[in-house]
Amino acid sequence: MAVKALLFLQWIIVSVLNLNPLLRSVLEINPHARVQAEEADRQRRSNSHHPRSFSHGVPMLLKDTIATDDKMNTTAGSYALLGSVVGQDAGVVEKLMNVGAVILGMASLTEWYSFRALAKIPNGWCARGGQAQLLQDPCGSSSGSAISMAANMVTVSLGSETHGSILYPADYNSVVRLKPTVGLTSRAGVVPISSRQDTIGPMARTVADAVNLLDAIVGFDPEDSEATSEAAQFIPDGGYKQFLNEDGIIGKDWGLITWNYSDSIRSGELMLLQAEFKSSVNEYLKELAISSVRSLADIIDFNQNNPELEKLEEYGQQTLIESERTNGIWEKERKAAEYLEKLSRDGFEKKMKDYKLDALVTPGISLAMTVLAIGGYPGISVPAGYQSVGMPFGIYFGGLKGSEPKLIEMAYAFEQATRLRKPPPQFFQLTNHFLFGTFWVLKGMVGFDFKDLLLTQPNILDPARSNTCLRGVRLKLKFRG
Ligand SMILES: *[C@@H]1O[C@H](CO)[C@@H](O)[C@H](O)[C@H]1NC(C)=O
Ligand SMILES: *[C@@H]1O[C@H](CO)[C@@H](O)[C@H](O)[C@H]1NC(C)=O
Repeated sequence: MAVKALLFLQWIIVSVLNLNPLLRSVLEINPHARVQAEEADRQRRSNSHHPRSFSHGVPMLLKDTIATDDKMNTTAGSYALLGSVVGQDAGVVEKLMNVGAVILGMASLTEWYSFRALAKIPNGWCARGGQAQLLQDPCGSSSGSAISMAANMVTVSLGSETHGSILYPADYNSVVRLKPTVGLTSRAGVVPISSRQDTIGPMARTVADAVNLLDAIVGFDPEDSEATSEAAQFIPDGGYKQFLNEDGIIGKDWGLITWNYSDSIRSGELMLLQAEFKSSVNEYLKELAISSVRSLADIIDFNQNNPELEKLEEYGQQTLIESERTNGIWEKERKAAEYLEKLSRDGFEKKMKDYKLDALVTPGISLAMTVLAIGGYPGISVPAGYQSVGMPFGIYFGGLKGSEPKLIEMAYAFEQATRLRKPPPQFFQLTNHFLFGTFWVLKGMVGFDFKDLLLTQPNILDPARSNTCLRGVRLKLKFRG
């Protein structure tokens, strides 16, 4: 980067101060950011030939669930955690500090990842920040990160995802979002929901920026040792940058999904998440250095005692209360976890292998989201256009664990190709039936070889029977038109 870190930081802070009263996407600015930027500039001057990370000197936002051991608060958007002090930086923050990144501040989110009251807490709303908004619906829960990027306040930020929190808001705010394989990035020091599904990943304006940030945060962390050591096998020598390949989409087999599969209640996912949330959040709160809340029960009490501050009347806290009623991971929960694993293994994984697919491609949100969440699979969402009402939508590339290199190649190639074709008016003015629009545009642009495809997932009500849940076409791009 040609701009000095301190100048860049000052420019960004001005933009945050200007835009934030309107967008409400940033909860706090790091009082220490200036010192970090000055340090980055000093390192640059004193050691000009040293190979530096892309993230060196770059100001970035963290979702307000990714802990920093400094003057900033990590609160999941709730007043309950305001003033609490974490013992140490989150694993990913430590890695960012090591490469000289500048932590600009904390981005807003849907409070408690909307796990305070699912479907009742408005997307992008938290007690501390109020309603963050750019377009009609910011979606959630990494809303503040996505909005800040969409508005050009910052160039990169970190979010977290358990079930769609990264990909949904990226989609709705027209930014690139990378959801890494669970364990590729450390979850230590991040307000948890489920160690099976939680993952931390970059949001950025371009695939290249997201990938560069990914390179800075992946890898083993002794504080999250089991998952990160297991996933470390996937990290390629030389990192992920090498897969920013303009022709990376050629020859790949895609499963293009046109049928919706989403049933997190009957699959047992929600019940299990609630049990996991209780035990993991209790653990997280216990380990804080200073805090007036030490358990989920304390948080529920806090909300009850501060109904106006937390808008308890309006939004309630049903999901917290239901989680509190769970009682740890026992027989029923273990069965549910096994069942989700079976769904992944015999459904998505089997079909990806049977059809020899490189990626599952879905237009817009929600299609196949549950499948990818419950299995801890990676994905990248790239802006793909705008619907007739002006709402952006993304195209999503998902794959098997550790398939980031392929997904990055495809996402990057898609991004570069659609940019090169600028402006492709049909492409950016597609309506709800954009799937077919996308398809035709792509078909017009490239040579396709496609076959019908049925991805089946075991029937969630009757595992003995198989149920067609994902339907699509199998595509292969043979050359670039
Ligand atoms: C963190 O919260 C405290 C209130 O408990 C506040 O005084 C402080 O300014 C906050 N930190 C930042 C960086 O906003
Ligand atoms: C997919 O299913 C979910 C849950 O049943 C529903 O809310 C959503 O609208 C569906 N999406 C599409 C594109 O059909």
